[in-house]
Amino acid sequence: MEKKDSLLKIKVLPNAPLQVQGSVELIMTDGSKVVIENPLLCRCGASQNKPFCDGSHAKIGFKG
Ligand code: FES
Repeated sequence: MEKKDSLLKIKVLPNAPLQVQGSVELIMTDGSKVVIENPLLCRCGASQNKPFCDGSHAKIGFKG
């Protein structure tokens, strides 16, 4: 993940994803780049839509 501006904020949500506030450029596993605003990024490892959160953290009872 590359920071696009100096106003980027990342908040760790309890038992849930990273909440990014701002515009970020993500480099996907296939090398493509996606610019997205305010993404929720998976940190539990269970999402079927990585790197984005798909709500699976709740189903697996993620704690962290
Ligand atoms: S944090 Fe939500 S699916 Fe992983």
